Amino acid sequence: MGTKMINVGVVGATGIVGTEFLKILAERKLPIEELRPFASETSKGRKIAFRGQQFAVKTLEDGCFTGLDLVFFSSGDEISREWAPKAVQEGAFAIDNSNAFRMNPEIPLVVPEVNDPGVSAKDKPCLIANPNCSTIQMVVALQPLYKKFGISSVQAATYQSVSGAGREALEELNNQTMAVLNHQEPSVNALPYQIAFNNLPQIGSFLEDGFTSEEMKMTNETKKILGDESINVSAFCVRTPSQNGHSIAAWIKLKNAATRQEIMDEFKKAAGIELVDDPFNNKYPMNIVASGTDPVYVGRIHQVPNDPKTWMVWIVADNIRKGAALNGIQIAKSIFKLD
Ligand SMILES: NC(=O)c1ccc[n+]([C@@H]2O[C@H](COP(=O)([O-])OP(=O)(O)OC[C@H]3O[C@@H](n4cnc5c(N)ncnc54)[C@H](OP(=O)(O)O)[C@@H]3O)[C@@H](O)[C@H]2O)c1
Repeated sequence: MGTKMINVGVVGATGIVGTEFLKILAERKLPIEELRPFASETSKGRKIAFRGQQFAVKTLEDGCFTGLDLVFFSSGDEISREWAPKAVQEGAFAIDNSNAFRMNPEIPLVVPEVNDPGVSAKDKPCLIANPNCSTIQMVVALQPLYKKFGISSVQAATYQSVSGAGREALEELNNQTMAVLNHQEPSVNALPYQIAFNNLPQIGSFLEDGFTSEEMKMTNETKKILGDESINVSAFCVRTPSQNGHSIAAWIKLKNAATRQEIMDEFKKAAGIELVDDPFNNKYPMNIVASGTDPVYVGRIHQVPNDPKTWMVWIVADNIRKGAALNGIQIAKSIFKLD
């Protein structure tokens, strides 16, 4: 019996995440019969090349998902809130990259290496949420330690690239960099301040308690994915002027003491992780290595002085790949049992 062909929609197909979805879908040679790309009115009719064929971009309208088995959403919260449930009603599994459904207790929030829900194409179509980009790479690194030693708390400081803020912000970083180097005034539209040659301690909007929405995503989503409300998680998220790849410095307090070698052994065995930890030869994870690749890289593993259960780890991944499109495609592969 041949592999079942599937019909796939990509909402936000012209954006940074949508483009990466199409790139990975093409690379992985998944058995796709029809590809239906969607974007805004501005892109309507634009042709998107996919495996040597041209597909015209469509806009969203009632019935637009009919005949699709699977739809990836990456067009922001509002569009997902309105259209992802319609995709399910029209018979497709919806994998949503936005924040709209992540903390809904009825909707699985999935990182396949950590909490694959075992949904299958034979089940009734449903919606599955893809977590926040920084959360995904952090939980992939936490999972093996959580399983082996237990975790009581995690503090994370993030260094997040501009691709995480979308296409417009990335173009702005490049334009600002050129402007500053040419002694011109950089224009600022996509982010609150100039990002070129700067760091911004703000990702998302501020809440009353001083955290940002991005920081609370890391706190709440980490607990939901690990299925453990008792872990004390806090994050300090910073936008840096790198183009792609997010880095996280994490302080991980284990429940049971472990040696550096035991921690490295768990990382070596874990799915989706690449250990790069050879400090005396200047080997550690970096954005420029992670960018364009699949793994979550971990390194710089060392113990906090006088605190034998707390370990510091540097975690780096491509935020558009593992942090968004690749994770979504892994969920789809699990549903449709694709290799
Ligand atoms: N970047 C990341 O690292 C990352 C990671 C995880 C999750 N996400 C989430 O993924 C989503 C997209 O992010 P992105 O970085 O790819 O943004 P982006 O580069 O700004 O792309 C936005 C996409 O949404 C489309 N769009 C806008 N209005 C639309 C409408 N009315 N109907 C249909 N499509 C519409 C745009 O189409 P046009 O080209 O026609 O304007 C474009 O394809 C967001 O929810 C974001 O939070 C992003």
